[in-house]
Amino acid sequence: MNFSPPPRPGRLVVLVSGSGTNLQALLDACEDPNYGATVVAVGADRPNIAGLQRAEGAGVATFVHSLDSYPHRAAWNDALAASCASFKPDLIVLAGFMKLVSAEFLAQFPQRVLNTHPALCPAFPGTTAPADALAYGVKVTGATLFIVDEGVDTGPIVAQTPVTVDDDDDVAELHERIKVAERRMLTTAVGRMIREGFTIDHRKVQIGS
Ligand code: GRF
Repeated sequence: MNFSPPPRPGRLVVLVSGSGTNLQALLDACEDPNYGATVVAVGADRPNIAGLQRAEGAGVATFVHSLDSYPHRAAWNDALAASCASFKPDLIVLAGFMKLVSAEFLAQFPQRVLNTHPALCPAFPGTTAPADALAYGVKVTGATLFIVDEGVDTGPIVAQTPVTVDDDDDVAELHERIKVAERRMLTTAVGRMIREGFTIDHRKVQIGS
């Protein structure tokens, strides 16, 4: 599977569910014309979140699809995919988006959906990774950027960044420190993917030729 750099700024659609600090890092990175990408839209699965306010503040189009507004999950996935597709994204970035998207959604954007996870995959999948890492007693955790597949945090790994666990960390402190490293990893890797292209061969993701 190959992704060739687009002949214009790469178009990113970012999906969020919360505070949107990863989104903000992407918005900030895209201000540099040399970054090679632009956030063309931000979608959310709930209204009135800081992530949407960040998008509006940056003058970026937004859309919201709440699961409880749809009769079933397939209809929600279809609506979400249609909104994403309408912005013709080169890549879709799930940046703290707290919902799983369906196989049908992914089929519309093959190998073009990225997610960032606050642990070193395959350790601690799911929504409580920093707490799980702390409870397990690991000394090092971190963040992972991966290409979304049908599993939970199981897709081909694009980038990882380590974070040391301190003896006196609580979950919030640890997650905050992970997020600092996560934002750097995310912006660096997405920029390179767009500018240099990437290949995926048997789970192995390589950026550039
Ligand atoms: C990130 O750590 C992300 O990996 C996790 O939730 C956090 C979202 O943070 N799923 P933010 O909304 O980008 O500030």
